Amino acid sequence: MHSKKRYTITAALPYANGPIHLGHVAGAHLPADIYVRYLRQKKASVIFISGSDEHGVPVTVRAQQEGTTPQKVVDKYHALNKKSLEKLGISYDIFARTSSPTHYDTATDFFKNLHQKGIFEVAETAQYYDPIHQQFLSDRYIKGSCPHCHNPNAYGDQCEACGSTLSPEELIAPVSAISGEKPILKSTKHWYLPLHKYADWLKKWILEEHKDFKTNVYGQCKGWLDQGLRPRAVTRDLTWGIPVPLPEGQGKVLYVWFDAPIGYISATKEWAKAQQVAWEPFWKDPNTTLIHFLGKDNIVFHCIIFPVMLKAHGQFILPQQIPANAFLNLEGKKFSTSRNHAVWLNDYLEDFQGKEDVLRYVLCTIAPENKDSDFTWKDFQNKNNNELVANLGNLVNRTVSLVHRYFKGIVPPNMHPSIADQTLLDTLTASFTTVGDEIEQFKFKEALQFCMGYAALGNKYLTDRAPWHLVKSSPEAAGTVLHIALQLIATIALLIKPFLPTTSDKIAIMLGLKSVGWDEVEIAHLVKAGERLAVPTLLFEKIEDAVIEAQRKKLENNYTL
Ligand code: MF3
Ligand code: ZN
Repeated sequence: MHSKKRYTITAALPYANGPIHLGHVAGAHLPADIYVRYLRQKKASVIFISGSDEHGVPVTVRAQQEGTTPQKVVDKYHALNKKSLEKLGISYDIFARTSSPTHYDTATDFFKNLHQKGIFEVAETAQYYDPIHQQFLSDRYIKGSCPHCHNPNAYGDQCEACGSTLSPEELIAPVSAISGEKPILKSTKHWYLPLHKYADWLKKWILEEHKDFKTNVYGQCKGWLDQGLRPRAVTRDLTWGIPVPLPEGQGKVLYVWFDAPIGYISATKEWAKAQQVAWEPFWKDPNTTLIHFLGKDNIVFHCIIFPVMLKAHGQFILPQQIPANAFLNLEGKKFSTSRNHAVWLNDYLEDFQGKEDVLRYVLCTIAPENKDSDFTWKDFQNKNNNELVANLGNLVNRTVSLVHRYFKGIVPPNMHPSIADQTLLDTLTASFTTVGDEIEQFKFKEALQFCMGYAALGNKYLTDRAPWHLVKSSPEAAGTVLHIALQLIATIALLIKPFLPTTSDKIAIMLGLKSVGWDEVEIAHLVKAGERLAVPTLLFEKIEDAVIEAQRKKLENNYTL
């Protein structure tokens, strides 16, 4: 028997420095979940990994702001984010933490392994230091103007406006993000990953062998590789983090972007241990497909730095795809934690109970797959009312209700279908290939649109054939129309399962559908003549203007300059 295809799928570990917002969901977690659910329907062997990124300056900065400890911050937000993401139906096999002992061991061993191989370059350099707070200023502790796009609020590790990765010394007019003062220079020793030594290998691996990366991802990589790579420090003068496991590294920790991606591996180990299976095949078997889902600000870390780490280590597979999304904006502006311009996932889930699929739907239809996109409450309402309620919900409700009204809830047989009916049934079979291909190319938006096209088709079919009239002259013909409409709905239920799992399950219950693998669907047998349907339940409900107004007010009131 040939073995199942194996996948390791990751969604970027959100920092446990605050609640996650809709941008995180649309960027990485929802697309990853759709993909994973699809693979499971394909009966592949999949592990879906994410978790909290608990180290790094973002966490300590938050602790200072909240007047608490980094530990309290990560405990709080890990619990909150895990709960919210799972409530939204993001079906991780494990949502781990980078503070776990397994992770400490794995990251420490990884660093030691590269150290023993002599991979790192060690250098003593002058670095920015805040004399008031007596602290070295790395990453987000230092701000200044971006040398590339002149955004005045670029951080020491990255400019969020143009996506460039930076080092503190590249910032124009740097200031300490803690005191706002001009920093001084002070000498310190660090371990560097010599990215430049891997430039030729990266060029071959990405530019030649991975022309299949998404255009935005490929383009960013080409940009960096053309600019030339420089050694990147993988240690920091901080107290919050995983200690550098060397005597000379006393008082220093691993750079958060060194330890966090290793979190994917340690999470796999934890999951495997709990399942009593081996973790190695998910990271070492060349037949495993590794895919990282993330937002565009994470591309460099997943396309350049982490692959160099994996390559230098030598025992691991490399990612086969790195589908990064662009950014989601909110009402025409960037999501911003500091300005409190955001829709927090936990707030949404509380304000819109039972409407998890509505959010999944809207975020998928506006997913920033190729360029930045915008979430607006008005659009959210329109899509709910016009597409989910009036199109999909309506089709299911009217079909099931008609079967109850005219056929006592018993599925009528398919008697003498017309050629058009038969053609319709045939296209349903083909739709699994179409939607599957789109999902496999990470075109989730198009795939979902295609499914919704079937709902529109179904509504038109019912209106054109009017079984409520037909039933008077020919109950058999009316039954056939409803039979076909039911097969159509059953198909939609299976096709949308990766996108709208709860809705799909509700339809399945109404129709008495059994779960069936993506590649094993036999349309004519999804719903069987003679079976009894359950009573129709409401799939979606209209969202009123007042509800939307309240959300917009909330955003306006929260906004701080
Ligand atoms: N915490 C990072 C962010 O939110 C993402 C880390 S992804 C990982 O931008 F690869 F490091 F895990
Ligand atoms: Zn910039």
